[in-house]
Amino acid sequence: MTALDRTRRRALVVGGSTGIGRGVADAWAAAGLDVTVLSRSAPAGTGAERLRWAATDLTDADRVAENLALAAAGPLHAVCYSAVHYGDRRAPFRDCAEAEWRRQIDVNLHGLWLTLARTLPALRRPDAPGVFLGVSSEVVYNAGPGRSGYAASKAAASALLDSVAQEETTEPPGTQALRIVQALPAGMVDTPGIRRRRPEGFDYSAYMTPGSFAPLARELAATAGAGLHGAHLVVDGAGAWYPVSERFPVSQSRRIPSGTGS
Ligand SMILES: NC(=O)c1ccc[n+]([C@@H]2O[C@H](COP(=O)([O-])OP(=O)(O)OC[C@H]3O[C@@H](n4cnc5c(N)ncnc54)[C@H](OP(=O)(O)O)[C@@H]3O)[C@@H](O)[C@H]2O)c1
Repeated sequence: MTALDRTRRRALVVGGSTGIGRGVADAWAAAGLDVTVLSRSAPAGTGAERLRWAATDLTDADRVAENLALAAAGPLHAVCYSAVHYGDRRAPFRDCAEAEWRRQIDVNLHGLWLTLARTLPALRRPDAPGVFLGVSSEVVYNAGPGRSGYAASKAAASALLDSVAQEETTEPPGTQALRIVQALPAGMVDTPGIRRRRPEGFDYSAYMTPGSFAPLARELAATAGAGLHGAHLVVDGAGAWYPVSERFPVSQSRRIPSGTGS
């Protein structure tokens, strides 16, 4: 990886090694941004050579603070938070371990809080506003039997982003010094996090791919989210997006018998 080039616009993707975060990181790198990924494992495969990576476990507060401080040391154009801990399997609340709940809070919510706290100052510029993209979920709107910790942590994360977005408004309208946007997939996305919870031989043909987020990521890189501040956008398999208010996302939860995984 080359030395930091201060002339290029900079981006950070927390949870950008795989899945939707990786789709966003690759799109931003292809758009010419200098992208740093924070995650435990290094980005691999096609395009990985274009990404910087700082090994970070979001449950290690000191390391997170250190790496976020480095990433936010200069102006940032775009930040995406996509890290997630789904949990080992779908299970009713009575079968959920406290340790798993704490991990979901650490990764899905507290990591987002830390990222906002450390990166918003680097994004906030009235002359050239930056954009913060939070990757959300249909479970925020539908709750989720068998997914209580995931649902609760994602709903809290969405409320955190909404609350901060409402603080980040200035008069006259449209002059925000940064924009905060939330985006969620219209259906299930084929990602390593989901594959870990599916049986061998599962048919993923109806699933979206992380690349579906590339058109929105490109738009945000080009416009820094102008006109989208505070929006909740649904991204479909073709890469198009529309506001949640236009078409409510369909629940991906299903009632499962106690003790069975998925
Ligand atoms: N996939 C879907 O169907 C779907 C549907 C609705 C919403 N979403 C949302 O989309 C987002 C991404 O999900 P995904 O399915 O793309 O997930 P994924 O493929 O499992 O990717 C999760 C990312 O989070 C990172 N991560 C997990 N635990 C971490 C930790 N302790 N410290 C640092 N990084 C950590 C992973 O990196 P390392 O493992 O390398 O640490 C990876 O980069 C989430 O916000 C999820 O709620 C996904």
